[in-house]
Amino acid sequence: MGKMARSTTRGAGRLIRGDLSGIEPYEPIVPLEVLSERCGVPVEKLIKLDGNENPYGCSPRVRRALAEYAFYHIYPDPLHREIMGPLEKYVGVGREHIVAGSGSDELIDLTLRLFLEPGDKVINCVPTFGMYPFSTAVCGGKTVTVPRSDAYEVDIAGVKSAIDERTKVIFIASPNNPSGNATSQSDLLKLVDTGVVVVVDEAYYEFCGKTVAPLVPRYSNLIVLRSFSKWAGLGGLRAGYGIFSVNIAELIRRIKSPYNVNAAAMVAVKESLADTDYLQCKVNAIIAERERLFEKLRKQGVLVPLPSQANFILCRVAKGNARKIKQGLDSKGIFVRYFDTPLLRDTLRISVGKPEHTDALIEALA
Ligand SMILES: Cc1ncc(COP(=O)(O)O)c(C=O)c1O
Repeated sequence: MGKMARSTTRGAGRLIRGDLSGIEPYEPIVPLEVLSERCGVPVEKLIKLDGNENPYGCSPRVRRALAEYAFYHIYPDPLHREIMGPLEKYVGVGREHIVAGSGSDELIDLTLRLFLEPGDKVINCVPTFGMYPFSTAVCGGKTVTVPRSDAYEVDIAGVKSAIDERTKVIFIASPNNPSGNATSQSDLLKLVDTGVVVVVDEAYYEFCGKTVAPLVPRYSNLIVLRSFSKWAGLGGLRAGYGIFSVNIAELIRRIKSPYNVNAAAMVAVKESLADTDYLQCKVNAIIAERERLFEKLRKQGVLVPLPSQANFILCRVAKGNARKIKQGLDSKGIFVRYFDTPLLRDTLRISVGKPEHTDALIEALA
């Protein structure tokens, strides 16, 4: 870079939004190649249980359709018309309520962009998914933290008493990441009754089966977000959707960037929705494996697993400390997620893999 360009860049620093200069970055997953280099285990032998990804990958129909697709040079449809028919059938709610996005992450951001003015508040029930406070900060909002109970239940009374005239949005992940427990419909409706926008993040819906999506047409302040990353194995392609009241859906469509779902993701969503029997088999296998992993961990007694309705299990440590256990697993090419925050002291979150991944993990823990 030339001298002039450098000084211009430095000068522009004064113009950056003050509230963003100290923003904490979102802690993303580490790519396979980097993990492989760190532990000296080849990529294909790694056991990656740190990102709640689907160990079976996507549907074979997706791979075939992507190889054959002929229109990568054409911009994708901003209204996602090709996937709206299958999507409304899958969700059971009309397409006028649905907007697709580049992962549900994009819908979190778009929702906050629509509702937040600088200084508006967003209620976050910790411990939970890190994108909520991150996107709130990017959108100029303030995060108000309401801790969950010891069993990670949402503190409904606590949330209600945290609401004031600047509160615009409440985020509830159900099932919650990383605790794996779901919030009951009656508790969610108590929050909807406050009139604040309630975003129910159902990224793990398919592993749990409980949804409030059919209630969206009845409550204009209820929003449901879903993802194709987990059940359909499309994390790398970025596809999700939101279910909104008709007016909000219309505004989200207006403020999103036009080509927010790329052509490959659109093909993948279409093929996934045409292959739900196959994908449901894999979801069933993951649910069965979740229960087997839970029992094995419980019997082994090194970790204390929490019951989960998602595709991961949060574990406290019975013997030793979690950081050391994680380091030991890392060195064997088995990657799990480590947390050490006030509400998640020295804990591990283990994504459910294939049976052979469970066996390797249990052996390594022994
Ligand atoms: C609760 C929750 N919501 C949303 C997401 C993001 O999903 P997507 O890949 O569709 O952006 C995740 C990913 O881990 C998650 O745990």
